[in-house]
Amino acid sequence: MTKIKKITLSRPGNSAKFTIIDTDAPCVTNPDDVLIAVHYSGLNFADVMMRLNLYPETPKAPFTPGYEVSGKVLALGSAVEGLEVGDEVMGGCYFGGYSSQVKLSSWQVKKIPENLTLEQGAGFMVSYLSAAFGLFELARVREDDHVVIDCGSGALGAILIKLLRHNGVAKITALTRSQEKLEAIENFGARALTHEQWQMADERADLFINSRGGRSIKSDMKKLSPLGRIVCIGASNMVHQNKVSLFKIVREFIGMELLGRPSVMGLMNSNNGVFGLNVLKLFDEPERIKRLLAEPFFYPVAPKIDSVFPFDQVNQAHEKLGMGRSSGKVLLSWK
Ligand SMILES: NC(=O)c1ccc[n+]([C@@H]2O[C@H](COP(=O)([O-])OP(=O)(O)OC[C@H]3O[C@@H](n4cnc5c(N)ncnc54)[C@H](OP(=O)(O)O)[C@@H]3O)[C@@H](O)[C@H]2O)c1
Repeated sequence: MTKIKKITLSRPGNSAKFTIIDTDAPCVTNPDDVLIAVHYSGLNFADVMMRLNLYPETPKAPFTPGYEVSGKVLALGSAVEGLEVGDEVMGGCYFGGYSSQVKLSSWQVKKIPENLTLEQGAGFMVSYLSAAFGLFELARVREDDHVVIDCGSGALGAILIKLLRHNGVAKITALTRSQEKLEAIENFGARALTHEQWQMADERADLFINSRGGRSIKSDMKKLSPLGRIVCIGASNMVHQNKVSLFKIVREFIGMELLGRPSVMGLMNSNNGVFGLNVLKLFDEPERIKRLLAEPFFYPVAPKIDSVFPFDQVNQAHEKLGMGRSSGKVLLSWK
C-alpha cells in the first residue's frame, strides 16, 4: 500500500503542536471521487482558532486540519466529468487538507483557471467563497456602498478588496491594527486606516465586514448608516499573540453575546441588518458552492500569497498566522 504524509493535531490548546504521520494513501471508491496529489495546502485563521480550541466545529482529536488544497489529479471515479488525470486543480475540503494526498467529491474540485498559479489555487477557495457569499448573497453590496473591512491586511481582506473593485464598488476602507501594514492594504487597492483612525473619523459605513467579533460589533453598529449591514465572520479578538486566555474568551463572549448583541427592536428603529457567515458550514450545500464557483466574477480575482512553508514547518507557519504577521495567504508546500 502506498504511504502518504498527514499533519495531525492531538490536543488543541495554547501549547498544541502539530505532528507528521505516515498513513495509507486514499483510493478512489466512489464514481464521483477525485484523488489529488497535493502540492500546496492553504492555511486559514480558522485553523488557528481550531488549534486553540476556539472553533466550535473542531473534530475529536487526533485529526487532520485543512480546508483547501491545490495539486494534480491522480485518479478519477468513473462518473467524474470535465477533469482528467494530471489536471491542475484546486479543492475545498471540510478538514483533512493538511495532507500530501486528498480524496474529494468532484463538486469540491475546480480546474485551476489560467490566471491563477498552483500556489494561488491553494489560497483561493475559502477566501473567495467567504467574500462572495458575504458580499453578494448576504449583504447584497451596491456600487455606491461604503464598505469597511476590519481584517484588511489578510488573505480575505485582499480578496474582498479585489472582488469589490472588480464589481464596481469604489469606496472601500480597510483596517489594520498595525501601522506597518497600511501600505500592503493600499497595494490591495483600498484606503487604509488603523482601527483607531477609523474610530476617530467622522464617517459611516454602509457595510461592515466584521471578523474581530466581541465588543467590536457594538462599535460597528454605532457607525452604520441607515440601511447599513454588518456581516459577522469571526471572533479574532479572542486570540492574543497566538494564544487565548480564559479572561479574553469571557470578555469577548460577553461583549458579543450579551452586552453587544443587537436587539431586534433596535435594528428595526435604525433600519440595519446583522448577518452571520460560516462558509465552512456551507460545505453541506454543494449546489450553492457550485453556483458561486461558476459565477463570472470568479476568474479575475487572484489571491495574494504571503509565504510558503515546507510541510514540516507547519508549526512555524501557524505561528506566523496566529501572531498576525502575514499579509496574504500562508501555504504549506508538499513538493
Ligand atoms: N466566517 C467565515 O466563513 C470566514 C471565512 C474566512 C475568514 N474568516 C475570518 O476572517 C478573518 C480574516 O481571515 P484571513 O483568512 O484573512 O486571515 P489572515 O490572513 O490570518 O488575516 C487575519 C488578519 O486579521 C488581523 N487580526 C485581527 N485580530 C487578530 C488576532 N487577534 N490575531 C491575529 N490576527 C488578527 C490581522 O491583521 P492586522 O494585523 O493587520 O490587524 C491578520 O492579518 C479571520 O478572523 C477569519 O477567521 C471567516
